[in-house]
Amino acid sequence: MTVATSRRETGFLYDRVSRHILDLIEQGTLQPGDRAPSLRGLSRQLKVSISTVKQAYAELEDRGVLRVRPQSGFYVNGLPQPAAPVPRRRAVCCKPRKVRFGELFEEIFLLANNPEIVPLGAAVPSPDLMPGKGLLRATRRAAALHAGEAIDYCFPPGLPRLRRQIARRYADLGIGVSPEEVVITSGATEALTLALQTVARRGDIIAVESPTYFSVLRLIERMGLLALEIDTDPETGMCPEALQLALETMDIRAVLTVPNFNNPLGALMPEANKRRIAELVAEHDVALIEDDIYGDLYFEGERPPPVRRFDLSGKVLTCSSFSKTLAPGYRVGWVLAGGYLDDVLEWKQATTSATTSLTQLGVSEYLRSGEYERHLRRLRKAFRDQVERMRLLVARHFPPGTRITQPGGGFVLWVEMPRGSDCLEVFHLALEAGISITPGILFSATRRYRNFIRISCGHSWSEAIEQAVVRLGGIVARQLDG
Ligand SMILES: Cc1ncc(COP(=O)(O)O)c(C=O)c1O
Repeated sequence: MTVATSRRETGFLYDRVSRHILDLIEQGTLQPGDRAPSLRGLSRQLKVSISTVKQAYAELEDRGVLRVRPQSGFYVNGLPQPAAPVPRRRAVCCKPRKVRFGELFEEIFLLANNPEIVPLGAAVPSPDLMPGKGLLRATRRAAALHAGEAIDYCFPPGLPRLRRQIARRYADLGIGVSPEEVVITSGATEALTLALQTVARRGDIIAVESPTYFSVLRLIERMGLLALEIDTDPETGMCPEALQLALETMDIRAVLTVPNFNNPLGALMPEANKRRIAELVAEHDVALIEDDIYGDLYFEGERPPPVRRFDLSGKVLTCSSFSKTLAPGYRVGWVLAGGYLDDVLEWKQATTSATTSLTQLGVSEYLRSGEYERHLRRLRKAFRDQVERMRLLVARHFPPGTRITQPGGGFVLWVEMPRGSDCLEVFHLALEAGISITPGILFSATRRYRNFIRISCGHSWSEAIEQAVVRLGGIVARQLDG
């Protein structure tokens, strides 16, 4: 039996056990307060292993269906509580703003960058979910085969075979991309930087989602640009009608969006909206910078396309990287530069000259081995389970009135705490308790989202994470009471 098959079967069996218990409760055979069937008994009855029953019981405990009594076993609480609702869409003020984070950003990140702390802050995938050994083996093989290339400069646009492989992955999505157009960068961050340097100058207005990924706001700050926050739906992303109004009334230089499972909302833009936004930027002769870093991390169905699929104007620059799926430290990203290729290349040559050769060779060899797709399948399942578990746990332990996104991909949750909560205070109290989270105010130029936090589910489930969420819920509740 392959690893993939056995995992699928374990997932299936454990769902069957959970379903069986839920059925017994729904039928009234098991009532609140009743003792749940013993692990051994149920394992025998359903012909599954004890560890499968344990896994199902742990999940039912997270959902609040069962509770454990030490030395006594599992007891029925009741059917699952209705899950916490998702945050509502909010209208944002449509005035371009300077971004001023100043030292706040440094303070938050210096404090949180400590290995002793339970890592619910940074949107970083845990190294134990990454194929470290396989990737290092591929890198060693590539270094042995191409020793000269591995230590030589790799000038823009980057390693030809890696660029062909990236172009082929777009072809699989029905997008015709020439390898000539793929410019390899140091992570998605450099891709976004080059894209902004290419299309905008100091004082220009950049339309962004609200809330939006804070590093983009930081880039806007450092480049002396203005951020215009556009209404963004927690489930469907940037709102085309609001963008249209902004494009008709303001001199916008570029639109920046994360269409697939954005950070922090996890919103997935429907195809009709992607098509509409591609039309709008073409009509208004404005650049669209899309960041598709989470596109491969969908939980169900098919890989959602980037906006680039609907672009007929060459106005779309698509940025991405292998940081969330393979190795953030390898710093291998890219930009599909569309009609801006010459300018992007000039900026790349002028600013960083070359990109690390060895990691490009390593990623290319790893892609060639065919292991990447298998790894992505496992990773998607792991993130789906972690996000779902975290959502249930937050719903259960945060005060009533809490709202939580329900993303269909990626690995972050955006949590709206009841009014009166202060994300900075929660951040500091959590840090004192050895837990990092990301405060909501970092995701807007206007410091809105004061009662929001972002929780990362990038790390494998552990007792420490579970305890940390319970403590966080207590911190938020005490803060509200105080
Ligand atoms: C939306 C988004 N874009 C870009 C990045 C950074 O990517 P990289 O590490 O490849 O520079 C992140 C990381 O959190 C992200 O969430």
